[in-house]
Amino acid sequence: MRESATDAAHARVCRLSIVRGLLMMLAICSASAAGGAPRQVIIDTDPGTDDAIAIMLALNSPELAVRAFTVVAGNVPAAQGLDNALHLVSLARRCDLPVAIGAQRPLAGMLTTAELYHGKNGLGDVQLPPATCAADKRWAPDLIDDLVHAAPHEITLVTLGPLTNIALALSKDPSIVPLVKEVIMMGGSVSGGNASPAAEFNVYVDPEAAKIVFEAGWPLTMVGLDMGDKVLLTRSHLAVLANEHSPMAQLVSGIGAFLLERAERAGRSGAGMYDPVAIGVAIDRTLVQVTPMHIDVETTGRVTRGETVANRSGRVSRHELRTFPEGDRYVATGADRVAPNADVATMVDAERFVQLLLSRIKGK
Ligand code: BDR
Ligand code: CA
Repeated sequence: MRESATDAAHARVCRLSIVRGLLMMLAICSASAAGGAPRQVIIDTDPGTDDAIAIMLALNSPELAVRAFTVVAGNVPAAQGLDNALHLVSLARRCDLPVAIGAQRPLAGMLTTAELYHGKNGLGDVQLPPATCAADKRWAPDLIDDLVHAAPHEITLVTLGPLTNIALALSKDPSIVPLVKEVIMMGGSVSGGNASPAAEFNVYVDPEAAKIVFEAGWPLTMVGLDMGDKVLLTRSHLAVLANEHSPMAQLVSGIGAFLLERAERAGRSGAGMYDPVAIGVAIDRTLVQVTPMHIDVETTGRVTRGETVANRSGRVSRHELRTFPEGDRYVATGADRVAPNADVATMVDAERFVQLLLSRIKGK
């Protein structure tokens, strides 16, 4: 019996899937051999150019077992973000992973999006083949709660967008706090912002949500703007991908070219890899050095709304109101200790990270 073109194509796809499956299993086994089972992660994202690169890095890294993608409004409206996420998992042939939409707007106030920096479609105007994966029907915050309960103490939440979904998951079910292994957040900054002089975009978009997440009391690593600003994807890095023809390498090349063009127009030598570094920290914590700090999120300041205010000393001055003949005033009487609520990344091994990123995207 003759094999039709469709049958042949189907057989080819099956063979490819089997090979991919075997390679992934091999990678998972070597991750286990190198130091335990892969880290289970839920990636909350607003894809997003650098989100897309981060997602590809995660899906190509045997140290991570992605359990779900949850989509939040941020760089683009949530519906566009969901569409992008579905295109990305389709490109990676990972329709087995749930992709669920969550919050369409921040907890308070109006949504701010960033197509100016991410392109009209949010993916640097790179056009992807039609999506073959479908959205999960569950609401993202519910999915987060369900998955955390299904694998207590195992799940790391990696957040690449505004913190709205995480704050909603937490508010709906506060019992997840001690069950989450860790939160690794791309967000905030201890040295000024990008969305405003004071605030980093992800926290700027939803400061109320970020405040809830910082104050939850779970282990939290903040991989802020200051880290991504140090990890630049340059033209020479991109050249490494020029001869790679896999769909993932093509995607990263296309998005990289878009980001570099913008970065160079703004007088920078490379494009900041903000979200990918957070995934890097989930893969290999030794890529960054952290300092424990207490972070307060400014929610009311006129020019500082969304600022992550870092207490580096671990103390806060105590002031008492005293009465004096010349008039009442506050007087410093001592200092109280403030417990840290985050490990804040303060140094990053930028070149080691970029090499890791490129080798994972190349798959070599
Ligand atoms: C963050 O804001 C977004 O534009 C990026 O995707 C990243 O998550 C950097 O401030
Ligand atoms: Ca993002």
